[in-house]
Amino acid sequence: MSNKNIESVLQEGRLFPPADSFKAAAGLDAAKLAALHAAAEHDPTGFWGDQAREALTWHTPFTDVLDESEAPNYRWFGDGKLNVSVNCLDVHLAERGDNTALVFESEPGAVRRLTYRELHAEVCRFANGLRALGVEQGDRVVIYMPLMPEAIIAMQACARIGAIHSVVFGGFSALSLRDRIEDAGARVLITADGGMRGGNVIELKTAADKALSEGCASIESLIVLRHTGHDVPMVAGRDVWWQDLVHDKPATCEPAWVDAEHPLFLLYTSGSTGKPKGIQHSSAGYLLGAKLSTQWVFDLQPDDVFWCTADVGWITGHSYVAYGPLANGATVVLYEGGPTWPDAGRFWRIIEDHKVSIFYTAPTALRALMKLGDDIPNSYDLSSLRLLGSVGEPINPEAWMWYRTVIGKDRCPIVDTWWQTETGAILISPVPGATATKPGSCTQPLPGIDAAIVDDEGNAVTKPDAGGYLVVRRPWPSMLRTIWNDNDRYIDTYWHRFQNRYYVAGDSAHRDADGYFWIMGRIDDVLNVSGHRLGTMEVESALVAHHRVAEAAVVGKPHPVKGEAVFAYVVCRGERPMGDTRAFVEELRQWVGEQIGAIAKPDEIRFADNLPKTRSGKIMRRLLRAIARDEEITQDISTLENPQIVDQLRGK
Ligand code: WT7
Repeated sequence: MSNKNIESVLQEGRLFPPADSFKAAAGLDAAKLAALHAAAEHDPTGFWGDQAREALTWHTPFTDVLDESEAPNYRWFGDGKLNVSVNCLDVHLAERGDNTALVFESEPGAVRRLTYRELHAEVCRFANGLRALGVEQGDRVVIYMPLMPEAIIAMQACARIGAIHSVVFGGFSALSLRDRIEDAGARVLITADGGMRGGNVIELKTAADKALSEGCASIESLIVLRHTGHDVPMVAGRDVWWQDLVHDKPATCEPAWVDAEHPLFLLYTSGSTGKPKGIQHSSAGYLLGAKLSTQWVFDLQPDDVFWCTADVGWITGHSYVAYGPLANGATVVLYEGGPTWPDAGRFWRIIEDHKVSIFYTAPTALRALMKLGDDIPNSYDLSSLRLLGSVGEPINPEAWMWYRTVIGKDRCPIVDTWWQTETGAILISPVPGATATKPGSCTQPLPGIDAAIVDDEGNAVTKPDAGGYLVVRRPWPSMLRTIWNDNDRYIDTYWHRFQNRYYVAGDSAHRDADGYFWIMGRIDDVLNVSGHRLGTMEVESALVAHHRVAEAAVVGKPHPVKGEAVFAYVVCRGERPMGDTRAFVEELRQWVGEQIGAIAKPDEIRFADNLPKTRSGKIMRRLLRAIARDEEITQDISTLENPQIVDQLRGK
């Protein structure tokens, strides 16, 4: 489709009707969806109780659906017991034990398949291995691994024995890993000798060693998966090869029957302070959200081949790689490696080779691939696709239309799914057989989700297109339970704004005349870089930890592929760097990479003698944002303590 056509479609404000192919017996059509909404509105607690009884396999049935006595620390299905790995694996063995659970493609192109029976056996062996190392229910286990079957096996094995996993994305640095291990007080760390990306080995074991050498006193064992095969030193008494740990372990393992509220995992995410927060999820409520949303939004059937490109280091990789699709007995594709390695057709070739039917990715990936031209996807057979998903940031209508026409050939509906690490599962999204879609809108909340836009006083905004805070007014099962070790921060961050009545997402949004939600972006000091959340304070603290940096301020700047880029203003100790500063800029970028990880490296750094501050000493971030974007300055700079700084900040 030419650009001109795309523009005319957008101007028409076109609606894409729900897809007929999804109204089949198994899927949700408009009537079934309306019935679910009606049931949820009529009796929200009863609705979730029914869903939980039907969707999950319980060891001890619950009698109490929702306990609000300590709100906003809600408890769901509190007196029930179950096991998450049993719900993802054992339940499929009788009827589809020989179906493929995982299809793994490595970056060099080797393919490995595991049936549900094989995956179950591997999970049990590894769970027995963890128990042999002394891991007990409630212990924390940190997973720092490539995106490959063993990462899923490790997560499921923790779930099997009731250990709490905390996956740390392999792109995070040794220091970020150390901070997360220490905050969680983990007993065991699991890593690999290395990972593969863009033809390079990612030195995971080296980073793990560095993290452990700089603290992490709670760690007793480091399990190392042999994967790339290159030499890594092993520390006697602490390190053990994965392969050695499991080889003599039985392929069955008695599951731990845990309370519904037992923490399944922690996942650290950025907030508006320098310290990432450990989002704590439950077992039953979380799994219910992951399982049901996978059915409702992706219409997932056991014969589907589902490929979500997210790494397991992010929530998307938890809910829509490791848990949701397995709970539904589907086939999950895993690809470890770069999207354009060895060439720009890699994603499309994977879809062709493995006959992927449902593809779920991020707008940043789509924009990067779109730039490379239509000929590349057009030279692959994408006819296996039946549904396309988007997540992580607002998808611009141009990318949406390209996804629909070039990848989906106008046949596949698109689901633009809004959710967060904290929500556990998708909350606002089209349902493909029931919702008409508009490019750029995540449409409407799912059944049981009372999402709304409210003003400063917490009153619902009813005027179409008027912006406000995106909130959720009633608890839902897959919501976060707290922030690990910091319940005050949990309440402050998500509830305090509206007297603990509403969950505050931190996004601003508006609804159009049809009631469709349009997400505008974050309202806190959080950036969204390539669909990943990054706190400006985190990057600032990393910069000021450098011996030559006195002060730093970080803002986001719109970026055509990444969505937002990191723009840093830096004040040095002593003289302002002048002339050719490239080497020093590179040094600072590397430094931030070592402190946090490559995603946090500033795209641009500008040096100044001072930062613009009000007379009371507050940094004027709005001004810095305008300068980074080369916008005209509309703010009143007369209150600036040092108005002459503005020209310097502009690089003039
Ligand atoms: C933030 C959550 C949840 C998966 C990945 C990101 C933004 C997420 C959308 C969407 C517009 C979106 C929001 C949200 N976001 N999905 N479909 N449309 N914005 O998880 O790191 O917890 O970030 O991502 O700003 O608050 P996360």
